Amino acid sequence: MNKVAILSSDALEDRKPQHALVADVDLVAVRFDDEIAVFYGRCLHRGALMSDGYVSGNSLICGVHYWDYRMDTGVSEYNNAEALPKFSAVGKKTAKILGG
Ligand code: FES
Repeated sequence: MNKVAILSSDALEDRKPQHALVADVDLVAVRFDDEIAVFYGRCLHRGALMSDGYVSGNSLICGVHYWDYRMDTGVSEYNNAEALPKFSAVGKKTAKILGG
């Protein structure tokens, strides 16, 4: 898999979702403490940008109808059948994803 630099970690405020566009695919990156999570950036409900959402507890919440996705897995606590695809993020200075 190829690693792609998507953001500088300086651009990531703690628990504030940040949009990134890679190969015309919307992504959302979130720093929480020392971890960085990168997910597909569109809500599975109706496609809203997840970067317009917010973090509550251990979940990333869509700002439109409040679907939730756990930060560690992308799985919804409300409906475990729904999971926002999560990418591997590596690096301290720059969040990178593994393609494929
Ligand atoms: S579009 Fe995200 S919950 Fe409806």
